[in-house]
Amino acid sequence: MKNIFDAGFVRDMCSTAANMYRLGWDERNGGNISYMIDKEQVAEYLDIDKAVREIPTGFDAKPLADRCFIVTGTGKYFKNVESDPETNLGIIRISKDGATAKLLWGYRDGGKFTSEFPAHMMSHIARLKVDCANRVVMHSHPTNLLAMNYVHPLDERKFSHTLWEMCTECIAVFPEGVGVLPWMLCGTNEIGEATAEKMKEFRVVIWALHGVYGAGKTLDETFGLIETVEKAAQIFMLTSHLPRINTIKDEDMVKLAELFKVNYRKDFLDI
Ligand code: 13P
Ligand code: ZN
Repeated sequence: MKNIFDAGFVRDMCSTAANMYRLGWDERNGGNISYMIDKEQVAEYLDIDKAVREIPTGFDAKPLADRCFIVTGTGKYFKNVESDPETNLGIIRISKDGATAKLLWGYRDGGKFTSEFPAHMMSHIARLKVDCANRVVMHSHPTNLLAMNYVHPLDERKFSHTLWEMCTECIAVFPEGVGVLPWMLCGTNEIGEATAEKMKEFRVVIWALHGVYGAGKTLDETFGLIETVEKAAQIFMLTSHLPRINTIKDEDMVKLAELFKVNYRKDFLDI
């Protein structure tokens, strides 16, 4: 059997967490990542029938029965993932009845997966129905996006439109806009269900005054999605207190969407 520390999915989780930390998105234990990996791929490194222990999922995860994920641990610092993946990450396999997850590797100090596990798994279920190639759900607390939450109306249409105005390629990167949830108690099944509901329509969901969720096919794609939203929020925060004398016009956004051949939310534009 191959060495798990050499597995691409472990290395990629380490470098992604390190990049998220480097950018200031994930202070202390802020943020969490879940990445679905093919069983066959995991089996190259681990005995997928041998559980170190079982961890209750806390909700009905049956639609993901038998699926394997690598997930960041609760209370763990993104700063430390790269130097000690075995403590800060875990590889799990959802049981047949969806009530427990078998821990195959990781959480070495007796830990468990993120407290946002319901939001992650429910979002995976929702995104897989829209795009069977979806593999990643990522949560973080990007600084400028969070700042923007305090000074911009938390209205999906207005928020998406403002972000699109901030960088030319925004409408091409997230043409469906961003979903926005009101402030809710984190770590609960309720916020998980609300996030999954939004994920039917959006790959980016803002948790008001808390952070953001992103979903995508790869770690890179999902990271890039959040990175683009955060960049737009940064431009907003750098300019919102200054007189605006130039802007990207809605008709120019239409031209961009047509150039990139993306299906954008026409009702989010004033055209
Ligand atoms: P965890 O440490 O449980 O992953 O929680 C971090 C977080 O960002 C909660 O929303
Ligand atoms: Zn959070």
